Formats: sequence, C-alpha cells, structure tokens
Amino acid sequence: MNFKIAVFPGDGIGPEVVREGTELLSRVAKLYDFNVEYEQGLVGGASIDAHGKPLTDSILKLAKQSDAVLLGAMGGPKWDSLDYSIRPERALLALRQELGLFANLRPVKLFSALASASTLKREVVEGTDLLVVRELTGGIYFGQPKGVTKLPDGTERGVNTEVYTTPEIERIAKVGFDAARRRRNKVTSVDKANVLEATELWRKVVTRVHKDGGYGDVALDHMLVDNCAMQLIRDPKQFDVMITTNMFGDILSDEAAMLTGSIGMLPSASLGGKVGMYEPVHGTAPDIAGKDMANPLATVLTVALMLRHSLDQGKAADRIEKAVEDVLNEGYRTADIKDRGCKLIGCKEMGKRVREKIG
Ligand code: IPM
Ligand code: MG
Repeated sequence: MNFKIAVFPGDGIGPEVVREGTELLSRVAKLYDFNVEYEQGLVGGASIDAHGKPLTDSILKLAKQSDAVLLGAMGGPKWDSLDYSIRPERALLALRQELGLFANLRPVKLFSALASASTLKREVVEGTDLLVVRELTGGIYFGQPKGVTKLPDGTERGVNTEVYTTPEIERIAKVGFDAARRRRNKVTSVDKANVLEATELWRKVVTRVHKDGGYGDVALDHMLVDNCAMQLIRDPKQFDVMITTNMFGDILSDEAAMLTGSIGMLPSASLGGKVGMYEPVHGTAPDIAGKDMANPLATVLTVALMLRHSLDQGKAADRIEKAVEDVLNEGYRTADIKDRGCKLIGCKEMGKRVREKIG
C-alpha cells in the first residue's frame, strides 16, 4: 500500500513539530508494511513570503490529490498587519472549506502521568477523556454579510454573521452521535439557544436527528456555552462527546486543552470530505520557534489520528498512543508540561524517544 501525504508545515514551530510527525510516520510505515510518500508545500506566512498569498492553487491541488494532509500551524506577528483577506490564517480556513472538512474532532484525553502538569487539581482532571466535535466550515467564521464598513459620520461598523442551515447541523450531529457510539454513548450539544436564533435552530435540529435518526442508544443533553465553559473545569469527567458550533468549538477546545496539561498535547482531525486534514490544535508559538523547545506530542498524536481515520491503520495508531504514554511515564517532558522531578527535553529528543518506543 502506498499513501500520498501532503505536508504543510507552515510557520513558527510548525516545521519542527511536523518534522517529528513525518519521521514518526515513516518509522511506523516500515513496521506495519506500508509506504508513505511526502509532498511538502508552503502555506500561511511562508507562502505569503514566497508567493504573496497564503494559499496558492498548486497547494490546494496537491491537498486534493493526496490521501491525507498533515499541517503544522500558521500565522505570526510578522504578518499581523496584513489585510484580513491575505492573512496566513486564511489559508487554513480556505483549505478546510475547499476540502469540505465540516467535522473537526479534537480528542481531549489526559495521560495520567500529566495529571499534576495541569493548572487544575489532580482530582478534577484525572480520568478526563472527552471528544470535542467542532463544526468547521460554517457559522460565524464564514457567514455573510461580514466586513468593516465606513459610516457617514466617519466611524466604522464591523459585522460577522452566525449562520447555520438544517443540513449543516444534521451532518455534524450525526458525526457526534456516531462517535459517541464508539465511546461512552453520551452527547452534550453546546449552544446559546437562550439568546441566539441560529443556535436555537441548532438545538432543534440536533434533538430531531437524535430522535428520528435512530440514536436512542445514545444519551443526549443540551448545555449553554457559558455553563459549558464552567462545567469543563468544574467536572470534565461528565463529558463524553461534545458537539458544537465553529466558534464555540474553537474556544472550548483551547479551554479543554488545559485539562490535558498543555495545548501542546492536543491533536485534531478534520473530516467530512474525500481527503482528511490533520493538525495539532496549538498555534505557531513564535516566541519559542526554532529553539527546539516545542512539544511535538500534539503532532505525534495527530499522526495517530491520521492513521486511524484516513489510512486505516488503527493498530499503528494505538502503538503511537502507547509509545507517548510510555515516554511520559518515564518522566520525559518538554517545557510546556514540565513538572517537579521530570527530565526536561527538547522537541527533537521527545520525537526520537517516541520513535524508539515504537521500535
Ligand atoms: C484553531 C485555530 C484556527 C481557528 C485559527 C488559526 C484560524 O485557532 O484551529 O483552533 O480559529 O479555527
Ligand atoms: Mg483555536
């Protein structure tokens, strides 16, 4: 078997964490007897510097022709003053939209060795194992009208629009219910139905899909997003699968990351189209870029998601997750998850130690 992987490292710490990801994937491929072919491309700020725009047609074509896309991160202070339409982050949004990746899975699982790395109490976070299913191609990120216009009195007016249609809600709800069936059969749908009409529709459609879609074996409850933000740090173990809108999912998944010790631990899979895209949830961390300080484990775990969801190599994925657990149990930590008595190591060494565990 031969898989073509499009690799877009992006900016900041993107290239260093992605390098550990591809090295790992190559190692695993040998072990499980399949072949991977990489095609690298520039996206985000790196593409702006080379081509004047964050995403070129040839990169999009490369992504569409691959079996899966591995992404690093995009953006940085260097490009912050550019117009919104050509900012590095646009490349990410365009890739998600062009590839039809409406479902973003962000598993939030605490490795028990990291229970004391979290800023939250051990007894609160221990046992956390939830999945955020974030809608990724709709909502306020893409809704029209949007933009900033000048008013006659010289002031300005900024607009974004939260929009959801029935089919958009139905398909993400199904992804959530199906995922719950492979886990602990519980879905919490998160909205702001007490104020926002678009999410009142969200709640109505999710309830209908649950009832009419034959999901009687899955428990469904609804939670307002403000309460959810609180419940996540009060009692995270109450959650199994959470389904939510694009923006609420963006915010809640960063919050949930802290349950695992660090956002440097959180992987993600963006699915729904022909090609899946895989990216660590963290950003470009310009302050530590190029210093061999980044945590590559989010990318390592992202590779595991790629193996499971796009390459049909579930065993290899399990092996990676076990290897990460073993390395953490031995006390090795990057700076973001360091703890008393741990062995502090850099990005490269963390990647190498995981590979060695794989064999
Ligand atoms: C994420 C990021 C992106 C988002 C940014 C970089 C556009 O925060 O993947 O969570 O908001 O979706
Ligand atoms: Mg985010």
